[in-house]
Amino acid sequence: NWTPAQIIEDQISRVRDQVGDRHVLLGLSGGVDSSVVAALLHKAIGDQLTCVFVDNGLLRKAEGDQVMETFAKHMGVKVIRVDAEDLFLSKLKGEAEPEAKRKIIGNTFIDVFDTEAAKIEGVDFLAQGTIYPDVIESAAAKTGKAHVIKSHHNVGGLPETMKLKLVEPLRELFKDEVRKLGVELGLPYDMVYRHPFPGPGLGVRILGEVKKEYADILREADAIFIEELHNAGWYHKTSQAFAVFLPVKSVGVVGDGRRYEWVIALRAVETIDFMTARWAHLPYELLEKVSNRIINEITGVSRVTYDVSSKPPATIEWE
Ligand code: XMP
Repeated sequence: NWTPAQIIEDQISRVRDQVGDRHVLLGLSGGVDSSVVAALLHKAIGDQLTCVFVDNGLLRKAEGDQVMETFAKHMGVKVIRVDAEDLFLSKLKGEAEPEAKRKIIGNTFIDVFDTEAAKIEGVDFLAQGTIYPDVIESAAAKTGKAHVIKSHHNVGGLPETMKLKLVEPLRELFKDEVRKLGVELGLPYDMVYRHPFPGPGLGVRILGEVKKEYADILREADAIFIEELHNAGWYHKTSQAFAVFLPVKSVGVVGDGRRYEWVIALRAVETIDFMTARWAHLPYELLEKVSNRIINEITGVSRVTYDVSSKPPATIEWE
């Protein structure tokens, strides 16, 4: 019988006991879990918390600015923003294989994060947004029970390289509880109830090799789709929705000429646990509007498709 306020009070005193007057580092991704940890730790230890936000160039439109706005500007949290787009894109150059891309993105993140961490004096603790399902999944992975564990889900991957003690205030909580904590801590509703976004970001939504040109197009298409879902009242009826960049050229007619341009796929699913999912039966009018806007507003896109595959066998992401 808990309330979000009680959990917050309890965790604040636990964190204070654990870290004393020492310094804590947190990798802030903009996702729900790390955001709630940031807000919670800021409340508990204020300036003893430093967050590192790595912009890997694979984030959604305006995401980096929103994170800085919310945490640095409004809440006064110490956040170091690292612009690492060029580094990530150069490491990804020439790589088309999905799991290899995931590894590159994960390893590059650790490198960048490590480098930033080394610049901060006197850090003894690393905070992480580990939640209860992560703990279970990682335990299952160690005993070989889980079949598909993706490379990003390594609870404790960072500390091994960094030799820092862990602060994990959400370790016993489920997602819905984490969200309630977030609201109680004053985080914006839209941030707390945003669809999940994979760690490798747009890196796995650009099929095959990742290029800046593709990422820029995809960011715009995705933003249009999400905006129209909100406008139509459909965003919160879907569990996850996004655009995918298909690196194939399809014909379109512009004036008198035939022009070969990129294809965008839209994906929207309804699911409880993300293990199985049904494609969302979005209204045709909504799809029509999104399609028209994407084709008219984005140079280089001539065709939009809607993904009508359920999971299984199709996964939610395309890679
Ligand atoms: P799939 O595509 O496996 O996705 O049906 C299930 C859920 O997991 C997310 N996902 C990832 N999350 N790193 C992440 O942090 C990844 O590499 C990754 N791959 C998939 C996906 O967005 C969906 O919510």
